[in-house]
Amino acid sequence: MTDIQFKNITDFDIKGKKILVRVDINSSIDLEKNEIRSDPRIQAILPTLESLKEAAVVLIAHQSRLGKPDCIDLKLHADKLNGYLGGRVKFVADLFGDTAISAIKELQPGEVLLLNNVRKWEIETQVKSIEEAEKTELITKLSPLFDYFVNDAFGAAHRAHVSLIGWPTICAGPTVKRELEMVQKLFTPKKPSIWLVGGAKAMDKFQALKFNLEAGNIDMALVCGLTAILMLEAKGMDMGEKNRKFIAEDLEQNRNEIAAVCEKFKDKIFLPEDMAYEENGKRLECPTLEVSKLDVSTGDIGAKTIANFKTLIQSAKTIVANGPPGIFEKEVFKQSSFEIVDAMAAAAKNDAFVCIGGGDMGAVAEMAGLGEKITISTGGGALLKILSGKDLPLLQVLRNKMPK
Ligand code: 3PG
Repeated sequence: MTDIQFKNITDFDIKGKKILVRVDINSSIDLEKNEIRSDPRIQAILPTLESLKEAAVVLIAHQSRLGKPDCIDLKLHADKLNGYLGGRVKFVADLFGDTAISAIKELQPGEVLLLNNVRKWEIETQVKSIEEAEKTELITKLSPLFDYFVNDAFGAAHRAHVSLIGWPTICAGPTVKRELEMVQKLFTPKKPSIWLVGGAKAMDKFQALKFNLEAGNIDMALVCGLTAILMLEAKGMDMGEKNRKFIAEDLEQNRNEIAAVCEKFKDKIFLPEDMAYEENGKRLECPTLEVSKLDVSTGDIGAKTIANFKTLIQSAKTIVANGPPGIFEKEVFKQSSFEIVDAMAAAAKNDAFVCIGGGDMGAVAEMAGLGEKITISTGGGALLKILSGKDLPLLQVLRNKMPK
């Protein structure tokens, strides 16, 4: 389903045109320092902006979710972009009000304008259909101002939100094209193929693992983070209330399905044998079997598991990683994420195709200075959904709203 024929904005004569591009530059924010931790998604759109530099480009994007502390204005993102583009990026703290509309009208070819965080407008995430999206204020007010509309937000490919689906026509951008080609590669992997999942969104990660285990695309699944807690619990292991509370609902609804997959693919699924937790600011480790007795909340895989996973990674020819194995933002839990990303970069040198998905895991690779050695997908949840064989809103609009 990812090999659909669609139009790319670079197929058109864009010179002097006004183009609206929906991008995904949702980033990990350090709120204390008021800065973007690392910016792989911002860097990922630079080729898009380069290819459109003869046009006037207006960017629309989201940051986090309404109500969350990091659902901030996009000024920091504009500053980052300006660092790369030598000051040709403007920012307005507005979306479709008079300030935004004037700035769009005045924008000249060669300039870029970033509008404010579209998730601060609550309707963005609330529509039920494309038709409903098309009637919203965002679309009716901004559409007449543009020649072309581009969806280049691969990271949000799974969201049917107004700014992603509502425009009168929609073509793909270079980021989306690049990512869809990469997905095709992962569906026909060089063997052996290893998948590592960690972080949150446990059920999404389980579904992607299940689909690709069934399809024969995964030889070894290294499972960490909340997905590991979910699978261990479904297999009947008590992981303690402090861990269980994060996955309790998913567990209740899907226990039998998860247990069946664990049993069917028991030779291919590798769960942590030891785990790390924090006590008085120190990292301590214990066998997974003892977690409930100690009644701790775990934040990383333990040293034995890290060593084992690194050895397995060395043998792989295709590596997919989605979500960090530990809570890398915390000093005591960052060990595994950096060691494992290092092992993946070493495998890449040995000719393995390595694809890291998810903002957080991409941030780890960037922080470790390995961003150039491995392919960092801009998709976290989106990559998972597309890798689960789902027909996503992005694919639907590229098929159905192609400009002439
Ligand atoms: C992501 O970070 O996965 C994308 O930007 C989509 O964000 P969302 O899960 O908040 O829709």
